[in-house]
Amino acid sequence: MKKVLGVVACAAVATSMVMGANAEDLIKVGFAQVGHESDWRTASTKSAQEVFSEENGYDLQFVDCDNDSAAQLEAVRGFIEQDVDYIIIDPIVATGWDTVLTECEDAGIPVVVIDRTIDDSDKYVSWVGSNFLTEGKACGEWLKEYAAAKGMDEVNVLVIEGTNGSSAQIGRTDGFKEVADAEGWTILDSQDGDFTQAGGQEVMESYCKSYEGQFNVVICQNDNEAFGAMDAMKAAGVSYGPEGDVVLVSFDGNKPAMESLLAGDLTAVFECNPLAAPTVEAVLQQLQAGETPEKETYMVEGWFANEDVVSSITIDGEEQPVTQMTDEVLANRAY
Ligand code: AHR
Repeated sequence: MKKVLGVVACAAVATSMVMGANAEDLIKVGFAQVGHESDWRTASTKSAQEVFSEENGYDLQFVDCDNDSAAQLEAVRGFIEQDVDYIIIDPIVATGWDTVLTECEDAGIPVVVIDRTIDDSDKYVSWVGSNFLTEGKACGEWLKEYAAAKGMDEVNVLVIEGTNGSSAQIGRTDGFKEVADAEGWTILDSQDGDFTQAGGQEVMESYCKSYEGQFNVVICQNDNEAFGAMDAMKAAGVSYGPEGDVVLVSFDGNKPAMESLLAGDLTAVFECNPLAAPTVEAVLQQLQAGETPEKETYMVEGWFANEDVVSSITIDGEEQPVTQMTDEVLANRAY
């Protein structure tokens, strides 16, 4: 018992030494996060908070910007005032960044961009995130093969987009549209669901009234919008999934959506990996060591379907596998 108490006491002293004696040595990082709109976002925040912990040598200043671009600019300016060592930004929208990034540069604070891109300034040292254009193309290419395999005569699509002006919305919309245009599909409508479940439900409720009996594909630009769309379709008596009248797909692939895929509510899911924080940390460590990190790093992502109907798709000349969701695949998912 004495020994156990001794171990506990030692551990407490060790912890306080890390937190106390080394407090000034902690690397001060400001992270202007988009908000808390989705399961994906929750996973991204959790990962960042775990990676940039005091135990790992960081003092993390975390701001949830609640999907408000003005609040996000204010958060970045707050980090400049606090004279943090590094600023991490997950940009809500892709434009409007050059002025504040110039302020960061003038203050000598390196900026690392995570997840979504900044498209109107290159005043950041590195970006780590997803290829949203490829995700959109993957969705289109999969639907092309799926429609052919299932003998779908017509493809009449409703899209529920993510937050307008975000690079995730822009890339997924453009990538899917490229294939849709080439195939001559009809995109009946494409509206903003703001990457939320409530947004997805609201848009789908209005679609069910305006396009009753006219659509056979619903593309949701994230999992949470798909959950909202399911509620709206259920209420309207529209069946979805591999056994239903409507092909329902989403982007992200967090566990709840993968469970829906396995259950046959969703037909396919195009992954967006939320665990970029460890790679961002590697970038900060390179900067600490005086090295020059890669300007762009893409996360590895995959494509998943309920049925084993389409085993691979070709994106920009490269053949990529489509994984059938099974209990085993689901059990091995990290988020
Ligand atoms: O930027 C990534 C996107 O933002 C995810 O697809 C979505 O779920 C999140 O809100």
